[in-house]
Amino acid sequence: MDHPFVDLDFHEVPVEEMLRRSQEFHDEMSRRRSVRQFAARPVPQDVVERAVMTAGTAPSGAHKQPWSFVLVGDPDVKRRIREAAEREEKESYEHRMPPAWIEDLEPLGTDWHKPYLTICPWLVVVFQQTYGVDPASGGKRKHYYVQESVGISVGFLLAALHHAGLATLTHTPSPMGFLGEVLERPENERAYMLIAVGYPEVGCRVPDLQRKPPKAILSVV
Ligand SMILES: Cc1cc2nc3c(=O)[nH]c(=O)nc-3n(C[C@H](O)[C@H](O)[C@H](O)COP(=O)(O)O)c2cc1C
Repeated sequence: MDHPFVDLDFHEVPVEEMLRRSQEFHDEMSRRRSVRQFAARPVPQDVVERAVMTAGTAPSGAHKQPWSFVLVGDPDVKRRIREAAEREEKESYEHRMPPAWIEDLEPLGTDWHKPYLTICPWLVVVFQQTYGVDPASGGKRKHYYVQESVGISVGFLLAALHHAGLATLTHTPSPMGFLGEVLERPENERAYMLIAVGYPEVGCRVPDLQRKPPKAILSVV
């Protein structure tokens, strides 16, 4: 079978500009922080939708694009998600997490209360499609490197939202099967991550964390 190819849409930039852009992007991404105190102010739906479309440009195993994103703005649905998340998180903090995990979370100041899930204007719930479904036959289709692919797309999503001027929190209530139930997702989808999106509350504070220096994360051979 002959599969079509098209010309690559590639815009080369002079090296000077490349250096400047890489520095600017690094500076911008360095300012990204996980926010747990959100303002209730509205955020245009278009901005979040476009960030999701940016997430959808991520590479994926055999181009299966094994992801779905559900934007939740409805206060009642957010309330149901918060209630279920807090139920699971309370159980986790009080009974399921080993002491070392609780200790590792201490610098972040988190606990099972998740008020931001109802305060922030948007939740983006990310689902991984463990397999595909052929629209015509309904048959199962194999997906490859699903975790890796969805992880990359979430990275794009967080970068796009930050670039647009918004704050996010990647939240992973455990277990998070309730998200598929509340949002009535199909059989082949499993909840991957819950992302709170909005403006930070005025006076928002974040943990004073240090990022690893280049020599700790980068080797050149
Ligand atoms: C896979 C993943 C799961 C996370 N789960 C939670 C979570 O459930 N609750 C939370 O408050 N933060 C969560 N975080 C946020 C991390 O705590 C945060 O990224 C880390 O402390 C570094 O802070 P920064 O994002 O401000 O650089 C998660 C981050 C990742 C990447």
